[in-house]
Parts: sequence; structure tokens; C-alpha cells
Amino acid sequence: MGNEVKKELLDDFFKALIKYEEFKEQLKETKLTPNLTVLLYGPPGTGKTSLTRGFAKKYDIPICIVESDRLVSPLLGDTIKNIRGVVELAADISKERGAFILFFDELDAIGSERSNIHEVGEIKRAVISFLQVIDRINYEGVPLAIFGATNHQHQLDSAIWRRFTFHFEFDFPNYHLRKQIIESFINKIKKAKIGVDNSIFSNLNNEYKEIHAIAKELENKLGRKISEFDDNVLWEEISKKSKIDGLLKLTYGYSGSDIERGTRVALFKAISTELLTYDMFFNSLRLVGGTAIHVERQDVLSSTKIRANRTKISEERRKRLPSPPEI
Ligand SMILES: Nc1ncnc2c1ncn2[C@@H]1O[C@H](COP(=O)(O)OP(=O)(O)O)[C@@H](O)[C@H]1O
Ligand SMILES: [Mg+2]
Repeated sequence: MGNEVKKELLDDFFKALIKYEEFKEQLKETKLTPNLTVLLYGPPGTGKTSLTRGFAKKYDIPICIVESDRLVSPLLGDTIKNIRGVVELAADISKERGAFILFFDELDAIGSERSNIHEVGEIKRAVISFLQVIDRINYEGVPLAIFGATNHQHQLDSAIWRRFTFHFEFDFPNYHLRKQIIESFINKIKKAKIGVDNSIFSNLNNEYKEIHAIAKELENKLGRKISEFDDNVLWEEISKKSKIDGLLKLTYGYSGSDIERGTRVALFKAISTELLTYDMFFNSLRLVGGTAIHVERQDVLSSTKIRANRTKISEERRKRLPSPPEI
């Protein structure tokens, strides 16, 4: 799902959440009332939490972020009690004050083999309890939205997966988005009145233009749209045609959060010299490295490296992905 589409849908969701009380009764009659549940999944540092926080702020809706693993206790009874406790408390607040967001981060801690609950039967009971409490809230028509975020969607219990009305996938930013993210961080530094060498912007622009031109040419040649990640043709073509060795190439497989970390490192250096240079920025980003290396995303990495391996790995990954939601 494209970033813009995702933002638009989330925007609609938040608008509806604000008006939910007003339309509650009419909605009940239609029997089509959607559960106010949103599942965000994808690699760490790709904006699941920050985007939700951003929307909550935009619409002035209070949000409470729960680290799900903190609800898990070796005593199953306690896990269930903790889950109920949190949701019921949020529901009470929501009944009194209107729209409210309860955000379960690392939701897989409750409902997957990865959780600290070891016995399969116990996982099931914790999951069932989680689903029951969500169902009840939805049935009561409380304007409480429940968000769940996970980096391990293929491990998430399929019942949880199905129960969430909306599913939004997050992925590593493509070169268009990486350019925007880099520019936004550099502009922040500039705004803080720390000198920024303009070659950062000009080099970035030149590299972008070159990649984009090759991408367009390749699309024309192949007669189809290409994606930087789903298809390994783009970077192969680039390596044949160009000597690009800039920020966009370096940050292939980086998350927004990796770019942010690299910027922080660069900023540290820039403060002492009072000028952020291109080399400083490039080297800092290289130093922090990209998340794709750490999260079994060889499919992302292989487009520049091990092509033969890619198909095999992505097939295995596909097998592990949860089944599509039932409608
Ligand atoms: N698409 C993005 N655009 C700009 N910044 C991003 C993006 N994705 C992540 N970040 C940066 O990384 C930080 C951590 O992201 P976060 O929302 O916590 O990721 P996740 O919840 O997916 O692990 C954010 O505060 C933000 O500064
Ligand atoms: Mg997060």
C-alpha cells in the first residue's frame, strides 16, 4: 500500500473516530458498524508509532501506548487480568471524555509463539481473552480505538489478525521517500541554526534525478511499473549504467528510524565544527547501518547482492505471512 493511500485511510479513520458518538445509533442499525481496530505491521522503525501519534495529535485525541510484553505474566490468570484491566480502564476514560486510542505496541507479545507464555494452550487463552474484551468494547459502542503494532506479523495469531478491521503495512522507505526523510532531517538541523553545507542537498538532488531517470527508462523498456524492493531489476540496472554512490544508494534497506539515528550521529559531529558536511552526514549514516540486515529482510538486501538467493528467501517469507483477512 502506498504511503499516501495509507495516510488518507488513516486520516479517514481518525475523522470518523471523532464523529463516532454522533453516528453511533445510526451505525448500529446498519449492523455494519466497523470495529474500531487498526493493525499496523512491518519492520521496526518504519513509522508505525510515530504516524499514529502524529494523527492523534492532529485530531487532539488522547493516546495511551502500552508495551504489550509488560502485560504478560508467568501466571496466565494475571496476563488475562492485566489485558482486561488496561482495556476496561481505557474504555472508562473514553466513555467519560470521548474518543481515545489504546495502542498495543509489540502486540505479538500477547499472541504468538514469540510471547513469554510458553504453552500453546495458554497463548490461545490469552488471545481469546484479548479478543473477548475488544469485542465487548466494540459492542458497547465506546469511542475507543484499539491499535496494535507488530514487527512480527507472520508470528501473530491469525485470530488476532482477523479481528482487526484495518490492516496497514509499513515497509522500508523507497528512494523517493528516503529523499524526503533525509531532507526533512537536514532542514531541521538548518532550522536549529547549525551550518549545513548545501552540497548535501545538491548531491542528493543529482543522485535522485539519476536514479529516477534510470527507473523511468527501465519502466518504459519493460512496459511495467517497477518497485525498488519487490523487484531486483532497478539496482542491477543502476549498477550497470551508473557509478552512483550517494546517500540514496547507501540508505537502501534503512528505516526512517535508521536515518534519524544517523542524523543524530552526524549532528554530534557538526556541533563541534559548526558545519554539517556531506561527508560527515554520509559517514554517520554508514556507521549506523540499516535495519534490513537485522530483520531477515534479505529480500531487500539481495537486490544489490545475492540475487540467486532472493527468490528462495522471499518464497519462504511469503509462506510465513499470515493468511489474508476474512471479510
Ligand atoms: N516514514 C518516516 N518518515 C520520517 N521519519 C520516520 C519514518 N519512519 C520512521 N521515522 C523516524 O523513526 C522514528 C521511530 O519510528 P517509529 O514510529 O517508532 O517506528 P515503528 O513504530 O514502526 O517501530 C520516528 O520517531 C521518526 O522520527
Ligand atoms: Mg513503534
